[in-house]
Amino acid sequence: MRVSSGVSGLDELVGGGLPAGRLYVLSGPPGSGKTTLSTQFLVEGVREGENGLFVSMHESRADIVEDMSGYGFGFERAVETDRMTFVDVFSSEGKRLFRPPGKHRDASSLVNRLTGFIDSNGVERVVVDSTMLLEHFLSDTDHNTIQFLTSLKRTDATVVLISEMTDPSAYTDEHYLAHGVVFMHNFLEDGGMQRGIQVLKMRGTQIDTDIHDLSFGGGGLSVGSSRGP
Ligand SMILES: Nc1ncnc2c1ncn2[C@@H]1O[C@H](COP(=O)(O)OP(=O)(O)O)[C@@H](O)[C@H]1O
Ligand SMILES: [Mg+2]
Repeated sequence: MRVSSGVSGLDELVGGGLPAGRLYVLSGPPGSGKTTLSTQFLVEGVREGENGLFVSMHESRADIVEDMSGYGFGFERAVETDRMTFVDVFSSEGKRLFRPPGKHRDASSLVNRLTGFIDSNGVERVVVDSTMLLEHFLSDTDHNTIQFLTSLKRTDATVVLISEMTDPSAYTDEHYLAHGVVFMHNFLEDGGMQRGIQVLKMRGTQIDTDIHDLSFGGGGLSVGSSRGP
């Protein structure tokens, strides 16, 4: 089964949609559109009657509602329904839900809380924004990151994990462990800033790995034509 990304033109690059129940890493520099794409992905789920969870350590709910209010894809409406849970990990609700008590920062209590929430609420789409969450909350990051990712892969949900990345060749554990990796690009061309998106890997699927134009319009992000070799 495949799920629609909610981003016009993106499903076509991955054989018609993202294989469901898998873990995807979304990487790219600041401002390249990672958070926007992820909110579109969750809104699409709500539209299709699925439950979604957004775990954010970068933005409060009010901030993200405001940031997305310029687009017409309906984030605010979706987040007000019971279908979408937005958790700011620094809020009191976020602390209660996800932050392990005490100083002992192993992955298992964070993971158990997160996967427990996913399973008991029938969550089908999850966004974790971002892997900085792991660096912040977990000690011995390498070992714990692997445990965190492995547990997320085992849930039934389709998971998008945002990984901040400024050096496009600095691959980390999550890129190797994920079923799929999507890169967002921001580059200077002809004196202006251009945006692009590229599917680097998607297990079990024929993909178009070209960099495609990415535009921000009234309906959110949309993927355009290939920029060629
Ligand atoms: N209509 C719009 N509303 C809000 N942001 C927009 C709009 N058009 C372009 N943007 C740009 O989108 C960028 C935000 O993308 P975002 O998804 O937060 O990126 P990332 O999560 O990768 O840092 C901002 O830098 C903003 O300038
Ligand atoms: Mg962001």
